[in-house]
Amino acid sequence: MITGHLLSAADLSKDEALNLLSTAKELAAITDGPNKKLPTLRGKTVVNLFFEDSTRTRISFETAAKRLSADVINFSAKGSSVSKGESLKDTAQTLQAMGADAVVIRHGSSGAAKRLADTQWIQAAIINAGDGTHEHPTQALLDAFTIKQHLRNDKSDLTGIRVLIVGDILHSRVARSNVLLLTKLGAQVVLVAPPTLLPVGVGDWPVEISYDLDSQIEKCDVVMMLRIQLERMADSFFPTEREYSRRYGLNSARLAKLSKSAIVMHPGPMNRGLEISADSADDLKSVIIDQVKNGVAVRMAVLYELLGGAQIGDSK
Ligand code: CP
Repeated sequence: MITGHLLSAADLSKDEALNLLSTAKELAAITDGPNKKLPTLRGKTVVNLFFEDSTRTRISFETAAKRLSADVINFSAKGSSVSKGESLKDTAQTLQAMGADAVVIRHGSSGAAKRLADTQWIQAAIINAGDGTHEHPTQALLDAFTIKQHLRNDKSDLTGIRVLIVGDILHSRVARSNVLLLTKLGAQVVLVAPPTLLPVGVGDWPVEISYDLDSQIEKCDVVMMLRIQLERMADSFFPTEREYSRRYGLNSARLAKLSKSAIVMHPGPMNRGLEISADSADDLKSVIIDQVKNGVAVRMAVLYELLGGAQIGDSK
């Protein structure tokens, strides 16, 4: 059982992460049935506080909360008083007055979720839905769930699974959270990127590093392609998009080199034709749509655990 907040994948012990994934599996089985809704969080209020754009995370948190019968308030900075200069503190205190029990926050600044949790401007469970280039813990959880679903569909961890995380590691909160979580669950993680797209200090991370995708592609179980985050790039990190795609993109030639059981992942949104070709994204090996679907069950599990809902399956 996790308590308090979920700010980082590092907040979770291995047992807590495995329990959460097992709760998510149970919830997925229930909501895949004809009655998608559980009364578990009736009377609770979940606020989606999004200062940055999102499709998958915002919609899946909203769906997750509604499937657990919580009330949901969707707040987007665009069109709110934030655009008139209102501070995070005043926004948080407004949400406190509305009676929020959980705040799901996405923010462009690394550390924003932690600040909200540490300051106690609001007495609610804080869930980090992506803070700057720092972390995106529920993405890592849904990625781990998807890997287990396809390659290890039992109670065990990810020992023996080799995961390539390819591309813009420097700007990727998804990569950071996945390294923390997947290695904790026993996976071998290899970061594959040009040196310019690796963060300072990456040598201290519990991963292998490679600059050469072709030397790695045949010996992995999972290839997780990352979006090139052009919006976070003030400088030029590679000569041209064509050159990047040629050296680090997943295309049909590389797809053909993957082992029979290997899977292709991408957190989305994708730059089709840049880090991943359209045929790779749509190939039978691609589990990208499963990742999106699994996001709902995993976020239901997180809300369920943090808000201490009634027992799963309780139909009263
Ligand atoms: N993977 C992910 O965080 O997608 P969104 O930006 O659409 O939420």
